[in-house]
Amino acid sequence: MCPDLDPSGPNAGLVEYESWLRDVPDYRPGASSTPPSLYERLGGAERIAAIVDDALDRHAVNPLLAPRFRGKDLPRLKQLGTQFFCMGSGGPQRYEGRDMRTAHAGMNVSEQELVAAIDDFVTAMRAQGVGAAEVNEVVGMLYSVKNEVLRT
Ligand code: HEM
Repeated sequence: MCPDLDPSGPNAGLVEYESWLRDVPDYRPGASSTPPSLYERLGGAERIAAIVDDALDRHAVNPLLAPRFRGKDLPRLKQLGTQFFCMGSGGPQRYEGRDMRTAHAGMNVSEQELVAAIDDFVTAMRAQGVGAAEVNEVVGMLYSVKNEVLRT
């Protein structure tokens, strides 16, 4: 509905429009019309690298996951994990690792292990002050690959 243009004051209609338009994108030339990506809201590659670093360190001592990572090249997994995370959240990086099905093939990963891995990411993000909305989105991102990772 159109705001009521009140003839009693010169700016009455404009004031009403302003409150109306508060949640509408800024269409002026040069204004950004796309909302910031998850990558941007997390703070970019450095912040994401810190989250992955923390989460994989937690995997390495998590009794539910540690046996899987024993003897693996953790720095390499952190690098690939960071690329994957950056790309998946809208960053410009290119992921150079194997696809999720190939990387986890033959491991027969269980639902319990998947939840444990996601839990470690949630703990790492909370420890680093990531907001609740972003934590939820990352959980969604990790969960979205479950069919490639589980029981292969
Ligand atoms: C939550 C979803 C998951 C994502 C997004 C993910 C992502 C990745 C990525 C990017 C790699 C590196 C790929 C490469 O080496 O080329 C990898 C490898 C690996 N992942 Fe996952 N992963 C997930 C779940 C899990 C779970 C639940 C486990 C534990 C059971 C696990 C255990 C491993 C192991 C052991 C490797 C190293 C494989 C090897 O080099 O032999 N992952 N994962």
